[in-house]
Amino acid sequence: MAFDFKVADLSQAEFGRKEIRLAEHEMPGLMATRAEYGPSQPLRGAKIMGSLHMTVQTAVLIETLVALGAEVRWVSCNIFSTQDHAAAAVVVGPDGTPEDPKGVPVFAWKGETLEEYWWCTEQALTWPGGEGPNMILDDGGDATLLVHKGAEYEKAGAVPDPATAESEEFAVVLRLLGESLAADPRKWTAIAERIKGVTEETTTGVHRLYEMQRDGKLLFPAINVNDSVTKSKFDNKYGIRHSLPDGIMRGTDVLIGGKVAVVCGYGDVGKGAAEALRGQGGRVVVTEIDPINALQAAMDGYQVTVLEDVVETADIFITTTGNFNIITADHMTRMKHQAIVGNVGHFDNEIDMAGLARVPGVEKIEIKPQVHEWRFEDGHSIIVLSEGRLLNLGNATGHPSFVMSNSFTNQVIAQIELFTKPEEYPTGVYVLPKILDEKVARLHLDALGVKLTTLTKEQAAYIGVDVAGPYKSDHYRY
Ligand code: NAI
Repeated sequence: MAFDFKVADLSQAEFGRKEIRLAEHEMPGLMATRAEYGPSQPLRGAKIMGSLHMTVQTAVLIETLVALGAEVRWVSCNIFSTQDHAAAAVVVGPDGTPEDPKGVPVFAWKGETLEEYWWCTEQALTWPGGEGPNMILDDGGDATLLVHKGAEYEKAGAVPDPATAESEEFAVVLRLLGESLAADPRKWTAIAERIKGVTEETTTGVHRLYEMQRDGKLLFPAINVNDSVTKSKFDNKYGIRHSLPDGIMRGTDVLIGGKVAVVCGYGDVGKGAAEALRGQGGRVVVTEIDPINALQAAMDGYQVTVLEDVVETADIFITTTGNFNIITADHMTRMKHQAIVGNVGHFDNEIDMAGLARVPGVEKIEIKPQVHEWRFEDGHSIIVLSEGRLLNLGNATGHPSFVMSNSFTNQVIAQIELFTKPEEYPTGVYVLPKILDEKVARLHLDALGVKLTTLTKEQAAYIGVDVAGPYKSDHYRY
């Protein structure tokens, strides 16, 4: 049966399928989930709209959701993060051909404009026949935001005005909402009413959810997947430890050894970033606003100082804060010649790209896609990766399969929880129970040859836990 989709090139599907096959072996959690839940089809009836980097690893996630009974429509949550061969393979599906695709509708390609990005998001949220979606799987909260904003305007009977937007991107969102409301004044309310819940992948999206909950604006229940220990303490840290240097190297091929590398933020992502850069021989400097994280960085052996102290002397600047305006246009004009600037926090506003473009006399020179030299009037220049957006996905291929298997197994479990037990999750934001977190970790031990010690009954009683877990209290920090 024909279905709608938009990807770069279906002829790349065979290459995508080969990489998906290799990735499946590296994603034991997802494959175990297919084996465990496949026969009972817990996601039958689920119509899942996913907004998450359309990579090879995500392809394995999508096909796991389908194997558990779900219908799925997908977009990337970043304009540069799609791997076109993975997107093509998902559309074609394991049993289809480029001429006769039989897979999942995907709307994503590498290098979307902002208009295209939000168009794709709307397409994936617009189910043929109008009877879906009833679940969202989000990364950064853009799909959740579109539904909430649309419903908010509809309820208020207000007309979105792009001129009031605080950013160029938000103006695009308001324009899209204005057009969709003119065509169907109940479109977003109807979608919001059908949604049973959202499972959110990342720190930034989780912040947005807790804010909506605090303000009484959250329209459906949410599971915070990010704060499963087997997500944020693994993907954010060990994933970045792999994919950050990968992105810097593919983008610039500059030797990191001996260079002074500044990591802004020492949370989970910052810790992985700093370790990776030090591992390459970089001399790492950390900036922080939180005294606990600053002390951690110092005790881990990094110099901790303010950006102003090193802005003119450092060679590489990486933002990992989830905050905005970390590196300003003024900072960038003061950096030394060919300093490298990149971001791995979720949104591009960590680096003031709009301000950089307004610096008098500045010139943007494309070295290759996602690598730009910005030359200032005095002749010196800096190199900005992925236009200030997630460089590990824009310049490389994001986190590797094994670590994403942990994150995505949490995602699948969270989708099953919300879809099959709505009575247990009234509107609010939840984390998965620790026993499920431990289960995700357990699924990844064999592949690494890890032998786990089993508690004796007496030992379990002595420390006050069950032999089968959970082994830690909820307030334990790993
Ligand atoms: P986190 O909350 O653990 O760490 C952020 C740190 O930045 C905190 O310690 C905070 O105190 C610090 N910070 C805030 N404002 C600062 C400022 N002005 N200067 C210096 N430090 C500042 O968050 P996490 O989990 O490390 O995530 C960070 C960002 O990375 C989020 O936007 C998240 O969504 C994103 N992320 C990106 C991934 C990728 O593949 N690129 C993977 C996972 C998360």
